[in-house]
Amino acid sequence: MTSQQDNDKKLAAEMAVSMLRNGMTVGLGTGSTARFALHAIAEQRLEIKGVPTSWQTAELARSLGIPLVDINDVPYIDITLDGADEFTPSLDLIKGGGAALLHEKIVAVRSRQLVIMTDASKRVAQLGKFRVPVETIPFAVRYVQDRLAAMGASSSVRHGVLTDEGNAVIDADFGLINDPAALGAQLKAITGVVEHGIFAGMAALVLMGDNGRVERFPQ
Ligand code: 5RP
Repeated sequence: MTSQQDNDKKLAAEMAVSMLRNGMTVGLGTGSTARFALHAIAEQRLEIKGVPTSWQTAELARSLGIPLVDINDVPYIDITLDGADEFTPSLDLIKGGGAALLHEKIVAVRSRQLVIMTDASKRVAQLGKFRVPVETIPFAVRYVQDRLAAMGASSSVRHGVLTDEGNAVIDADFGLINDPAALGAQLKAITGVVEHGIFAGMAALVLMGDNGRVERFPQ
């Protein structure tokens, strides 16, 4: 990753953090862009309560003094700030490069607003260059891979990786995805699949850092 990319992620994260207000319950995403957001929250001494999407994020939040709350102890989350592996200008996403997709999706559906922070390398016209992460019960891995093959996807298991819920991650290559929501529904229907990394129509806003400025989607 270039330092320009890092700088753009940081800019996008700082703009997302400027949307926060004291007293909010905030979903805290996972990954390098989300880390920039956590640092900005701590630096600005914002009085928020965070709902982390992974143990790594929870650890970082604790180390920065950001108070955390259990997702089951709040009626909703005001806003979630998270990264993505790919996004389209029509706000479909692929997430899960950091294997946190299940908790990220639960936090997203519990949120009034999902704000995605990225750099320009994540923007695509159509999803599918990044393989779709499929979180799977370990007992079902071979079966799920066979079903993915029957759907026309090559796939591989992410070796040495278990999610926070103890599941395996299979990365599936479907080529360019014409209908992300339909593919997501098909994946969800496979027995043994817990969740997949297609976030279709869930984001309210994408903030994309690009060469020192931030572009918004929708514009
Ligand atoms: C983790 C994710 C991340 O948001 C995604 O991988 C982007 O990461 P980064 O901000 O490091 O580029 O979905 O499961």
